[in-house]
Amino acid sequence: MTYRIFNRTDVVAEGWYWLLASRDLKPGQVKAVNILGDELAVFRGKDGRVAALDAYCPHMGAHLAEGRVEGNELRCFFHNWRFDASGQCTDIPCLAVQLQKRVQTRAGRVEERNGLIWVWLGHAANAGAVPEVPELAGTDYECTAGGRFIKHCHPNVVMVNAIDEQHFHTVHRLPGSILSMEPLPRDVRNIEFHNSGRPPQGSAIGRLIGRFYKNALTYNLSYWSGTTGTVTLGPDFLHLYLMFALRLTPDGKTEGRTVAFTRKRKGPVGWLFNRLLLRVTHLAGYYFSVGDTRIFQTIRFNLKTPIPADRAVMAFIQHLEQQPAHQLAAPQPAGDRKAA
Ligand code: FES
Ligand SMILES: [Fe+2]
Repeated sequence: MTYRIFNRTDVVAEGWYWLLASRDLKPGQVKAVNILGDELAVFRGKDGRVAALDAYCPHMGAHLAEGRVEGNELRCFFHNWRFDASGQCTDIPCLAVQLQKRVQTRAGRVEERNGLIWVWLGHAANAGAVPEVPELAGTDYECTAGGRFIKHCHPNVVMVNAIDEQHFHTVHRLPGSILSMEPLPRDVRNIEFHNSGRPPQGSAIGRLIGRFYKNALTYNLSYWSGTTGTVTLGPDFLHLYLMFALRLTPDGKTEGRTVAFTRKRKGPVGWLFNRLLLRVTHLAGYYFSVGDTRIFQTIRFNLKTPIPADRAVMAFIQHLEQQPAHQLAAPQPAGDRKAA
């Protein structure tokens, strides 16, 4: 089956895509990042703000990540032209006449949130909010970004795994029918899935678990642009929050980061508790991703024979297919540069 956006390597949904972990770009640093075929020079000015410019200098095409950050601007290594965060040229050293105002290069729209640096890919007018954890929106929280990881399949396929009800029994060995994922589209780019399944009452362990949940067993997902998702899970008194920020690599695989979140707690004990909780959240994410890795190595995703238990997966695909599309940049002449 051919889709308009889902599982394609030439087009993605418009949206915010992660560029770098915040901690990997210090003030005064510039790094090259290839984001979905678009080569960027991403730099952090002395004021701490991040900017992303088209990597190739509008003068003669030198890679701007070879240059250096001066104040809050970036100077090309080759002939020393300088550009500000908006892409405006602010200095051409060898010119007697001041012509730099006429030179402008392309700048990406960049935001820094939740331990990651994000870039908007799509029409500027469509840019909405950066992905967030629904329960934490507008509250005080802490978060830590985990390491970078690779999965050997498309990011959309990694995302649907978290709402694939059947595989939780077969791969992750969860008992009974405790998962029933209800799709809740929020807007054109954002769809949530809430579990309506309850802990099984037929066993002592099921009844014990049931004490910690007033209603359904909390397992809620929120997806943006089919490539960034948050998971909320845990008993009513203590929810864990994990974000999976993914992007497509040039060879059709997934490059991702996880971010663990928790509500802010007061005092040194609260601080210590939060460190532990953030670590546990990362470990929980790791635990659930291990079983799937085997599948991701060899899968050629093709939902040829859907059954009722695939309802959530189909709702995800349907929602993604209706989103505005962003055509990927054509592959550029290769340099030896590695993505940051
Ligand atoms: S190529 Fe950048 S200043 Fe000449
Ligand atoms: Fe899984």
